[in-house]
Amino acid sequence: MAEEQTEREVVRGLKDVAAAETKISYVNPMGSLYYVGYNIDDLVGRVYYAEVAYLFLYKRLPNQKELDKFSSDLVSEMRLPKTVVESIHSTPKNCHPMDVLRTEVSHLGEFDPEGHDFSDAANMRRAKRLIAQVPTIVATLYRSRNDLPVPKPRGDFTFVENFLYMFKGSPPEGEETGILHRLMILHADHGFNASTFAARVTASTNSDMYSAVTSAIGTLKGPLHGGAGEKVMEMLDGIGLEEHVEEYIKGLLDDNKKIMGFGHRVYRAEDPRTKHLRGIVESVCHRERTMSLCNKCIKIEQIVHDRKKIYPNLDFYAAVAMDSLGVPKDFFTPFFCSSRISGWVSHVIEQYEDAVLLRPSSKYVGEFGRPFIPIEER
Ligand code: ACO
Repeated sequence: MAEEQTEREVVRGLKDVAAAETKISYVNPMGSLYYVGYNIDDLVGRVYYAEVAYLFLYKRLPNQKELDKFSSDLVSEMRLPKTVVESIHSTPKNCHPMDVLRTEVSHLGEFDPEGHDFSDAANMRRAKRLIAQVPTIVATLYRSRNDLPVPKPRGDFTFVENFLYMFKGSPPEGEETGILHRLMILHADHGFNASTFAARVTASTNSDMYSAVTSAIGTLKGPLHGGAGEKVMEMLDGIGLEEHVEEYIKGLLDDNKKIMGFGHRVYRAEDPRTKHLRGIVESVCHRERTMSLCNKCIKIEQIVHDRKKIYPNLDFYAAVAMDSLGVPKDFFTPFFCSSRISGWVSHVIEQYEDAVLLRPSSKYVGEFGRPFIPIEER
């Protein structure tokens, strides 16, 4: 071995490496998840999504007055700069919605009303703007792709109601708002997952929040991370009839293919979000399509667990829950972003406070001492 090389141990995939401290969320491998100290089981179905976003930013739950103010601030920040709206309308209809979201969040950075003010107070305001504007980009893109106008946010609707209203073009009905609150809470944060880590790496260079979130969106897009939900729905639709589930899934497993929406880097037990997502899906099983998807999911869960001893992750039942809300599959990951943005911006702020450059090393396994040959002799 050449003298330049020093012995290093590579932790492949950074598995189990704690890269920084966080107070935002704790992922317990044995199957529980905490948001700023609260077990998610105590939050889901009992708080609004905006309360969770507030919790991440201020590290405590708001009282009613604080929640009302926070929620109405979010609604008033939902509007996008005109140029960003025009840019969304001009995107090619065949590019993936995540490509547009990634570009337009970056684009928002050009129109930040506070420009080069990177004070803590400006970053907190920026964080709230991003929490408010990401869902608007998603809704605007969806409406634009369907040649439909985007309604303006309404002052008498909560933030989540407005998101649904702007996406669907009509006021939310019945159980829809409650489902979206629960879905958004369950997607809001999850320790040092890949996209959050990407956001923190970018923030650790003291780069701006838009750059950090753009990094995160690009990372979430991948099918091993947030892009898995769309693949889950492709699989469920591809299976066809319920009676084909066994043959289809066993065929994939026999070919050593991964089943999308299964497995997790951290959990050794069932993902604590699954029971809530399964519950959402079961609550809307009176719809024929949801019932059929749900039946397929239950069968797949059984087969995969029997063969591989692994459990569904967030994306498995979330795909069916989003489908039940009328969200098309290529918008699943943008919906995921519309919620995870609250986690990302809170992590970015926490990373600024930590003020350390995230920069690992590598183990060089290439050659040394190669003789240089001038180009004319190669
Ligand atoms: N289907 C079949 N087998 C699987 C799956 C799966 N989905 N996931 C893991 N395994 C198996 C692997 O084949 C491997 O088995 P082996 O030890 O016999 O070779 C073992 O379980 C460990 O799997 P790894 O891929 O090494 O685990 P890792 O921690 O690196 O990956 C990951 C975690 C990427 C989530 C993986 O489980 C996967 O690819 N799942 C499918 C994609 C997916 O659903 N991603 C969403 C994750 S949740 C989220 O990001 C919101």
